[in-house]
Amino acid sequence: MKGFVCKVCGFISINGAAPAACPVCHAPKESFEEKEDAIKTPADANNLTESEKKHAPVITQPLHVKIGEIQHPMVKEHYITHIDFYIDREFISRVILTPEKLNPAAALHLKAQSGKLSAISLCNIHGAWIKE
Ligand SMILES: [Fe+2]
Repeated sequence: MKGFVCKVCGFISINGAAPAACPVCHAPKESFEEKEDAIKTPADANNLTESEKKHAPVITQPLHVKIGEIQHPMVKEHYITHIDFYIDREFISRVILTPEKLNPAAALHLKAQSGKLSAISLCNIHGAWIKE
């Protein structure tokens, strides 16, 4: 899936354009690079591979996101570095994760009563994964 990736912090804009400034690290628009393969999505949502089960975000209600149907590793050599949240493809929040003491999950309390929610997780080895 295409996205505009901040070369400073890894934030990915998914609304079809690079922002004037990165909402996470405030880097200027010039810091963004358009990438056709910025985000991975499962090839068949009804038949996930082992890797897809470990990486694709799972969104439940009330808003709680865990990474993977199978829990992803959280060790310093291999872990989920952060989860970014979007409503209607506009960035709303980043939860930064550290290895060893955290599971790859996060929860938000939303004011919005409607809108399409997306979550993108970043594995330090296997890249960015999205669930919409
Ligand atoms: Fe991974």
